[in-house]
Amino acid sequence: MISKPIGVFDSGYGGLTILKEMVSVLPQFDFVYMGDNARAPYGTKSFETIYEYTLQCVQWFFDQGCPLVILACNTASAKALRTIQQKDLPLIDTNKRVLGVIRPTSEVIGNFTQTGHVAVLGTTGTVESGSYLIEISKFFPEINVSQEACPEWVSIVENNQIESPEADYYVKKHIDNILTSDKKIDTLLLACTHYPLLQEVIKKHIPENISIISQGNIVAQSLKNYLEKHRNIAEICSKQGKRHYFTTGNATDFNNHASLFFGSEIKANQLFLG
Ligand code: DGL
Repeated sequence: MISKPIGVFDSGYGGLTILKEMVSVLPQFDFVYMGDNARAPYGTKSFETIYEYTLQCVQWFFDQGCPLVILACNTASAKALRTIQQKDLPLIDTNKRVLGVIRPTSEVIGNFTQTGHVAVLGTTGTVESGSYLIEISKFFPEINVSQEACPEWVSIVENNQIESPEADYYVKKHIDNILTSDKKIDTLLLACTHYPLLQEVIKKHIPENISIISQGNIVAQSLKNYLEKHRNIAEICSKQGKRHYFTTGNATDFNNHASLFFGSEIKANQLFLG
């Protein structure tokens, strides 16, 4: 086992799209990935359930020795992060850190738009939380943000139906909805870590002047900046370039599916949360 890895969490496979970029930006650091596949999707669950599951997983990462955990899941970042940071961390261990993906994305999203009109595509949980509206308005108060929940997209990706007629149908449906609601939108933010896998399908349904923004590189760069600024945390983290993968679901299924998200083979272990 690795002594002090950075923990990366998602409800399932989506966070691997973020981990992939983290590994490329910070290759010397050790990472432990955990997907809560047995209880995914999170996007349609209540605040209480997402908070309870996420906290349990964060505690698991701490038990593995992680000084820092990244919630590479927008839904968990929207629904559980703030309570964990404010209420739980002071009781668990004040030296541990938990960060999410919404703030780093909101900090830079304004740099991508020319028209100042941005669309946020996410799970029902992320959209209903209003987290992106709040965070983006702090950094770019002049930007007009529209939101669209795309509840079918996660299962399409999880079930490997990216090239199916269903994928085409549901991608077109939500893209048409959002682009009709505001004709000045020039930037689509994929605010769910599963959605980058639908990028090619999305491209088919949008005009060329609209750009698609995925979070992987944004979050990885932000983690790099964070570690440069917080030398005390960076120094504790172990650096042997090792990666371990865990799933609460079936490990064989995870391994078969994960390379699609990560871009190379993965060998995960199944874990049972108590
Ligand atoms: N990948 C997660 C996110 O970024 C959502 C997937 C799910 O619904 O479990 O929001």
